[in-house]
Amino acid sequence: MITDIMRRTILGKKEKFLFEGYREGMIDFESIGNEIGLYIHIPFCKDICPYCPYNKTVYNRDMAGRYKKAIINEINLYSNILKDKTITSVYIGGGTPTLMVDELKEVLGLIKKLFCFSGDIGIEVHPAEANARLFDMLKDMGVNLVSLGAQTFNDSVLDFLGRGYSSEEAEKALALVKGYHFECVDVDIMTNLPGQTMEDIRHDVLRAYSHDIDQLSVYPLIVFPMTNMGEAIKKSGLKRYSNRDERRILAAIDEISAKSGYKRSSVWTYGKEPGSRYTSVTRESFVGLGAGASSLAGGYFYLNTFSVEEYIKALAQGKLPINLVNRMSQKERMIFWIFWRCYDGVIDGSRFTRLYNAYLKKEFPLLFTLLKVLGMAKEEGQRFVLTERGRYAYHLVEKQYSVRYLNDLWQASMNRPWIEEYRL
Ligand SMILES: C[S@@+](CC[C@H](N)C(=O)[O-])C[C@H]1O[C@@H](n2cnc3c(N)ncnc32)[C@H](O)[C@@H]1O
Ligand code: SF4
Repeated sequence: MITDIMRRTILGKKEKFLFEGYREGMIDFESIGNEIGLYIHIPFCKDICPYCPYNKTVYNRDMAGRYKKAIINEINLYSNILKDKTITSVYIGGGTPTLMVDELKEVLGLIKKLFCFSGDIGIEVHPAEANARLFDMLKDMGVNLVSLGAQTFNDSVLDFLGRGYSSEEAEKALALVKGYHFECVDVDIMTNLPGQTMEDIRHDVLRAYSHDIDQLSVYPLIVFPMTNMGEAIKKSGLKRYSNRDERRILAAIDEISAKSGYKRSSVWTYGKEPGSRYTSVTRESFVGLGAGASSLAGGYFYLNTFSVEEYIKALAQGKLPINLVNRMSQKERMIFWIFWRCYDGVIDGSRFTRLYNAYLKKEFPLLFTLLKVLGMAKEEGQRFVLTERGRYAYHLVEKQYSVRYLNDLWQASMNRPWIEEYRL
């Protein structure tokens, strides 16, 4: 509902977004800018968490071996398509990417060989996977950013989430990774979970900071209707936090963070002061490799097939494994950019002008007037900086965007490997 209203008022668009089945030649790769990030999706996990909306399947050694070959084929295809571009970052997510750490060594080696690469290499680490061999290998591969998905240091909440490790193991993983002196160690924690008290959240944040981490990422639970948790909550009527409670939680985390020497570096991240280093997957332009990976490049937003077997098959035939393509109008590209800059907490008007040869306030007069009048953003020179109220409003929009758009698009993609047309 909110998302539909926003589409109509901000974009002036009555019809739904159109995703077309990919046909060769339909993406103008030449239009992609010179600098791009690479995202690599590893869709394997040992166990499946009930709240997880991402594309994943239970790990199987044979399938992982074939998957590696397919990624190598995909990189080879892109090395021709993107031959003059510079890769400015590589982010490896999942799933549980470290289940394929041996294979990833080869994959990263190939990227460095085929592309002009200069930038950070980040990876997500599941606490149950953390061990000295893994971190030795990551260091050796040139990984410099590690994100540990601790989620919580409370055993009963970990049980509720079905995470398969104890709070003691999560803390041990954190102590271990800290000893490796990666440039940035980020810890993910989840909040707003049914049964979690404010005291539990406070405890989790303080436990994470007690390890002198570089960054904390806070994820308020989003219940995706397609997940097992979504269905269970619907059936049982389990009590959730109200919007007002959610806002109180955020304010409390801000306060604890400030007292612990951490400053908000984006809507959901806190960085150590001084020398805070913000790491994010929200790049302006990125190409996604792997089953279910999405790409935002040039005027296109596109998704690979979510089916691991179909992904492997397409690449064995020398084809790009792209399933759906959304050709974005200039206005849509702009609003998508603004949406992700809101996540960063700052919308820089001069960057917007450089990218689109247009002016923020001229293109979206209603949006920026409302942001100011409603106290959601402050204008500082060329920049709009989100206030506490704006950040909370963004959280509500992001929740709607996830539950309304991502849930439906991902569910459809999981149900059918190749889709001719999809309207959202
Ligand atoms: C791409 S995910 C996966 C990371 C890794 N597989 C793991 O589970 O540790 C990155 C983060 O998203 C968060 N997350 C996952 N599902 C979520 C949900 N339904 N709502 C809010 N945050 C979620 C978790 O904090 C997780 O660490
Ligand atoms: S939350 Fe992480 S570990 Fe759990 S199923 Fe999803 S990707 Fe796998």
